[in-house]
Amino acid sequence: MIKKGIILAGGTGSRMSPITKAVNKQLLPIYDKPLIYYPLSVLLLANIKDVLIIVNQGQLYQFKKILGDGSRFGIKISYAEQQKPSGLPDAFIIGEEFIGKENVALILGDNFFYGQNFTKSLRECTKLKNGAKVFLHLVSNPSAYGVAKVNNNNKIVKIVEKPKTKISNLAVTGLYFFDNSVVKLSKKLKPSDRNEIEIVDLLNIYKKKNKLKGEFLGRGGVWLDTGSIKDFYDTSAFVSTVENRQGLKIACLEEIAFKKKWINRKNIKEAIVFYGKCEYSNYLAKFISKSNFK
Ligand code: TTP
Repeated sequence: MIKKGIILAGGTGSRMSPITKAVNKQLLPIYDKPLIYYPLSVLLLANIKDVLIIVNQGQLYQFKKILGDGSRFGIKISYAEQQKPSGLPDAFIIGEEFIGKENVALILGDNFFYGQNFTKSLRECTKLKNGAKVFLHLVSNPSAYGVAKVNNNNKIVKIVEKPKTKISNLAVTGLYFFDNSVVKLSKKLKPSDRNEIEIVDLLNIYKKKNKLKGEFLGRGGVWLDTGSIKDFYDTSAFVSTVENRQGLKIACLEEIAFKKKWINRKNIKEAIVFYGKCEYSNYLAKFISKSNFK
């Protein structure tokens, strides 16, 4: 079982400048809660309780202020700083000590996942022993993403970054599961033309060894990359629509932890005091008062 997860939550956020000149993108609100809540909720749903959050230099204080050591959610959160955004596999180099001898999940701090059977698929991925697994999702514009072609056994046979000619419609999302050799392999990667070490190069190493598999977020699932202004607001609108229609929140971390019995009613009451008077607190109060809350 994979028990450790990393959230890569630094980056330049250049597409969302000017706001990202002053604020880390992952702290901006997707509708009613900071963006970082969404990828963190994915790790919680995967039963990952040991989390490393990597942020840009000088930003630790803000993240610690909102997420603390994770005890509000019954988990352990550690933090590390990235000197500069030098590529996604840098997460495994920075996280070497955190990872130790174990396998590890990585989720990008600006990725949003939602949908039926998602939790079931996540649990499948955490069973990984050898090799690597990536979440794949259908997109209409594959040339904007890393794209994978899979065979009948869900093995990835080709993976290309921003393909000019179409190989498939399956985009590689920002959710990955790796065996422990990822640390060693990441250290060997050479920077690309844009002077970053590239996740696609890392995945290609696994692919060459026939050890790279895809996991599908089917048609009923939603994957959104919130990296551009438009995507950011589209994601916010999606969350608003679903939450207001159902009366249930997406990525309410305390709710997930409570249902897993990682925290109790007393902890929820403390969380309400922490958040103060707000809609998020009202929601927490409502769900611990309702015995039939589903
Ligand atoms: P990107 O979308 O590649 O980059 P970005 O968020 O900096 O935005 P932009 O392209 O507008 O400049 O990053 C994906 C996620 O990974 C995002 O949450 C930031 C994070 N990231 C890091 O934390 N460190 C890195 O070295 C890189 C490349 C990304």
